[in-house]
Amino acid sequence: MRDLFRRAGIDTPELDARLLAEIAFGMDRLELVNREREIAEPEALAKLQGFATRRLRGEPVVRIIGEKEFWGLSFTLNEATLVPRPETEMLVRRGLEILEGRSHKRILDLGSGTGCIPIAILRASPSATAVAVDLSSEAIVAAQWNAERHDVAKRFDARHGSWFDPLQVGESFDLITSNPPYIERAAIDSLPPEVKDHDPRLALDGGRDGLDAYRIIVGEAFHWLKPGGALVVEIGSMQGAAVRSMFLKAGFAEIVLEKDLAGLDRVVVGHHL
Ligand SMILES: C[S@@+](CC[C@H](N)C(=O)[O-])C[C@H]1O[C@@H](n2cnc3c(N)ncnc32)[C@H](O)[C@@H]1O
Repeated sequence: MRDLFRRAGIDTPELDARLLAEIAFGMDRLELVNREREIAEPEALAKLQGFATRRLRGEPVVRIIGEKEFWGLSFTLNEATLVPRPETEMLVRRGLEILEGRSHKRILDLGSGTGCIPIAILRASPSATAVAVDLSSEAIVAAQWNAERHDVAKRFDARHGSWFDPLQVGESFDLITSNPPYIERAAIDSLPPEVKDHDPRLALDGGRDGLDAYRIIVGEAFHWLKPGGALVVEIGSMQGAAVRSMFLKAGFAEIVLEKDLAGLDRVVVGHHL
């Protein structure tokens, strides 16, 4: 299979073949090597054949496997969820710092997808509780399942709706996080096929200039934060100045623009003093 993948120009043919074989045969890497010479069950072979066909058609391995690791935890994906990206772990790290020393630790995550951000925070902060909102009801199902998988379901409240709509008057939060859709609509078709053909449009499309979600989120978050709380958002690398000025206009203080490991603007943090 790896030769087939190599000939098809797949970047990591060996790794992809191994990961798909592990799932198809239900074995880990070591077991696969040790049992290499055994005759495989026809069902497992058929499964592997199906996986290979999907990979050769351009579907990313994580989509075929239906799992992605984030913050050291495995998250189940479905068709409505974005594949969590490593740079999004910056929101978790920063969020945990903000929550440190606070007594109630109530989090709101907007556009939750798999639930990766709040679930990672809940795992690392046992006294915290989280509300996770997504416009996709299928994403909400995935987030709820992931919360159960990671044993935080009792502290995790997944709500279906648009941004702040599912909240009730009087609710307030110590931390609001969001990795909203931020790709300019016209740029979506130029994204790599594994993104534009497999990540859901609702998770990518940030409107004409990519900033639609920030106009609502940054504009309204201040109202839902407790004094001393903070808003942490992920941004596209060219959106730092525009989003920073939205934070200023909304009344946030101590605004910080953080870069990712590639040196690109990636996160904006603002405090409600
Ligand atoms: C870029 S994805 C981020 C998913 C996840 N937080 C992560 O970091 O992997 C954006 C998410 O926002 C959701 N979304 C889009 N529009 C929304 C809206 N109006 N209200 C709530 N969620 C929305 C999408 O369904 C998607 O799950």
